[in-house]
Amino acid sequence: MWGVMGSYRDAWERSINSPNEFWGEAAKGITWYQEPSVVLDASNAPLYRWFSDGVMNTCYNALDRHVEAGRGAQRALIYDSPVTGVKRVYTYDELLDEVSHFAGALQSLKVEKGDRVVIYMPMIPEALIAMLACARIGAIHSVVFGGFAAHELAMRINDAAPKVVVSASCGIEVNRVIEYKPLLDAALDEASHHPDACVIVQRPQAQASMQAGRDFDWNDLVSAAAPAACVPLLGTDPLYILYTSGTTGRPKGVVRDNGGHAVALSWSMPNIYDTTAGEVFWAASDVGWVVGHSYIVYAPLLAGATTLLYEGKPVGTPDAGAYWRVISEWGVKTLFTAPTGFRAVKREDPSGSLIGQYDLSGFKYLFLAGERLDPETYTWASDRLGVPVIDHWWQTETGWPVAANLMGLDPMAVKPGSPTVPVPGFNVQIFTESGDRAATDAEGLILIELPLPPGCMAGVWGDEQKFFDTYLRHTPGYYLTGDGGHFDQDGYLFVMGRVDDVINVAGHRLSTGEIEEIIASHPDVAECAVIGVADALKGQIPRGLAVLKAGVQRDHDEIAAELVQQVRNQLGAVASLRQVDIVDALPKTRSGKVLRKSMRAIADGVDMPVPSTIDNPATLDALRPILRPAD
Ligand code: COA
Ligand code: AMP
Repeated sequence: MWGVMGSYRDAWERSINSPNEFWGEAAKGITWYQEPSVVLDASNAPLYRWFSDGVMNTCYNALDRHVEAGRGAQRALIYDSPVTGVKRVYTYDELLDEVSHFAGALQSLKVEKGDRVVIYMPMIPEALIAMLACARIGAIHSVVFGGFAAHELAMRINDAAPKVVVSASCGIEVNRVIEYKPLLDAALDEASHHPDACVIVQRPQAQASMQAGRDFDWNDLVSAAAPAACVPLLGTDPLYILYTSGTTGRPKGVVRDNGGHAVALSWSMPNIYDTTAGEVFWAASDVGWVVGHSYIVYAPLLAGATTLLYEGKPVGTPDAGAYWRVISEWGVKTLFTAPTGFRAVKREDPSGSLIGQYDLSGFKYLFLAGERLDPETYTWASDRLGVPVIDHWWQTETGWPVAANLMGLDPMAVKPGSPTVPVPGFNVQIFTESGDRAATDAEGLILIELPLPPGCMAGVWGDEQKFFDTYLRHTPGYYLTGDGGHFDQDGYLFVMGRVDDVINVAGHRLSTGEIEEIIASHPDVAECAVIGVADALKGQIPRGLAVLKAGVQRDHDEIAAELVQQVRNQLGAVASLRQVDIVDALPKTRSGKVLRKSMRAIADGVDMPVPSTIDNPATLDALRPILRPAD
């Protein structure tokens, strides 16, 4: 099946056939206080671990060792914030100083190895400093995306049970100041877990009101703190928890370890992204998402590169030339973002006329992930930029790419619509619904044969069984990705979309089940369904359908508006739910399962036979003009 040869093929085969040798070699890319004698630890299979007896510290590898190697004066972090007009460069020396002082500040609040710290912050340097400070002292950070509402934050606070929460007075969405502190206070009122302390960055755009005894000003705390040293940790000690949407209303806490994570990300920088020490890497995402964790914070710094933290949007801050302005101003070699960002630019500047106004001579690669890269966006970007445009596929759970075109190892011809080939370490296989291997070109479930390589999730926080039940139970010996797709004759992987109730909205992962729970909690709603429908800008957006309880006589538009607002209040604006239709009934199978797939097909204008198991075909027909009024 493999049409792709050369060093990629050799590396991939070695990674699968001799994982101890392959990852043992890769582990030399980081500095250990004590080298691991075990590479792959299969003692508790199928729960595999990596580098179990190695001793190291992720923050040491991201900062101290570069300073010790004489690169303290090199740029580590560039903060570019068009929404505030601030630009600031931190050298490795300066970032190390900031991080070790904030680590000391956390210690002054009695934060120790293994304690959790929730970080709810906008895209400011303190977010990254707080994450690295936790890593430095072995505290486990859990970053919550700033676009989530108080209820989402409360759920994560309850699950992670942090000793300290770090936040800021506000975030800025283009020109709107979003006050974070009232959201944090509401979350803490709702949560059953109570952290000992909150540390707040007071930004000039909003002054947070502080609760005496619980809330501390970042600057006050840091100026009183002594710098903290790195705490030696086992390779398997957790570095962070990152919550992600699954098919239920409760987000899962993906746990990432220290050793495997540092090794995998260090390997990925030169081999996948062709980016090494001293070069500028820009992941235009948010620290609240996995892309932000891996490729704004950890990977570029582990590699000794310069990372760029951008507090702005692709459009509107101030225009659709923002990507090009930042690339040319800071000498960005590699940009990584979501296709939706490019669709936003293309919509405002269809001919790409703003590109010509900037010197992009240092720009070498555009990497895109987070959702399927539609061939039209691929063609638009690659025609106008004249650099390789690389689609690559991964998930919060994997932490780094499962499939990519490996620019530093063995660049291959691009096939639009495909993220190219499995990355070394990932033995990707396609299975049919009935559990057989799918033929070449045939659509199926995408599974990954165990063990997953270093850097992938080590478990679900506080619930080992859930990790097994959600990902490993489906097909023994394999990890269930939740995505569907196929391999073609040349061994290229095509990822076509989720096979479960997870949707991708502007590159953000959301659960329709979670949105349904919020709608269903409205007193007038008897039952509801939420589906992800195609959207030209955001890839997908959620749409709701609600059936009212018998006897409810209120105005339907009014109830629909309340439902939209309820989702915004509880989940956050990022859900982008704009439309809920009040309907008489939902189409169901004879066993009572709501036919979401059929409704989605109608909304997207896709031909799909009506399932033979349908109980009430007239209901589905009645929804057609609502789901797709133009037809
Ligand atoms: N804090 C508070 N609110 C936030 C937020 C944050 N960190 N992030 C987003 N929101 C709000 C937005 O302001 C918007 O609010 P609104 O409904 O009142 O307008 C809502 O959440 C939806 O946000 P988003 O889906 O991002 O839509 P948008 O219209 O603001 O911007 C894009 C659309 C395409 C420009 C934007 O999604 C983008 O830049 N995407 C590319 C990069 C990326 O985010 N990648 C993520 C994974 S790699
Ligand atoms: P997240 O966990 O938020 O990173 O979202 C992961 C999901 O995004 C995957 O399971 C896919 O459904 C989708 N995804 C990410 N990258 C790609 C890609 N390159 N092509 C297709 N889907 C993608």
